[in-house]
Amino acid sequence: MLLQFAAFVLALASVILTGLQPAPLTFALLCGLLAAAFSHFFGLARWWLPIQLMFAPALVLMLALNIRPDFFLAAFLILLAVYWSTFRTQVPLYLSSRKVWRALETLLPSHASGAEAGGKEVPRFRFIDLGSGLGGVLTHLARTRPDGHYSGVESAPLPFLWSWLRIKLGGHPNCDVHWGSIWDKDLAQYDAVFAYLSPVPMERLWRKACAEMRPGTVLISSTFAVPEQTPHETVEVDDLHRSTLLVWRM
Ligand SMILES: C[S@@+](CC[C@H](N)C(=O)[O-])C[C@H]1O[C@@H](n2cnc3c(N)ncnc32)[C@H](O)[C@@H]1O
Repeated sequence: MLLQFAAFVLALASVILTGLQPAPLTFALLCGLLAAAFSHFFGLARWWLPIQLMFAPALVLMLALNIRPDFFLAAFLILLAVYWSTFRTQVPLYLSSRKVWRALETLLPSHASGAEAGGKEVPRFRFIDLGSGLGGVLTHLARTRPDGHYSGVESAPLPFLWSWLRIKLGGHPNCDVHWGSIWDKDLAQYDAVFAYLSPVPMERLWRKACAEMRPGTVLISSTFAVPEQTPHETVEVDDLHRSTLLVWRM
């Protein structure tokens, strides 16, 4: 945003100094070119360049469509509720595949009949999905491996609400989800910790897992490795993204 603003100021200054009166789209293209050039020089990832280039021209083109402003407000609020603090966490919402869900079943503690406490079956293990998104991992495992207890933690409001309803309406007594941050969860309570995040938090997650997880428990990361930490096991999943599950036995 700062680079867009700098590009706008420079484009405006050059228009004033030269006395030219470009059409709005031409001016927007100039802003876009400057913003993309600044982004390149400031070392932003390459995928930012087309976004920076097209941002101002897209604004001008959208204004020409005369779309009601409340449409943009609604779109913004929906995106905010879905992506929330992604700009800070660097972990957006994307969902793991059903094949990943099925591969996870094989990484859970092995089957055995549950212990009974006062006629009630006690879960044999506790699993947490850090950043549980829409709750697909949790509800799938709760159904296929009812011998465990499944928790999720999710910071974005709409995915949290969605997964909460999914659990309540689906009738999964061995499943719950909390609205909050993964960094506030004590991992010592869990036998299996699953994370499908992004490369950014992996080092911090590793430090947290080493500090809190009990010996013999497992940390499973979908797709994203921990720098300089070779996993004890990897599981290749034949899905669209060719996902890999990386497993560390703590
Ligand atoms: C890539 S999605 C994975 C969703 C789900 N676990 C799955 O496998 O389908 C990552 C999720 O983590 C959530 N998230 C990111 N940072 C978080 C944090 N610090 N605390 C809680 N949730 C977080 C995001 O909102 C997003 O829904």
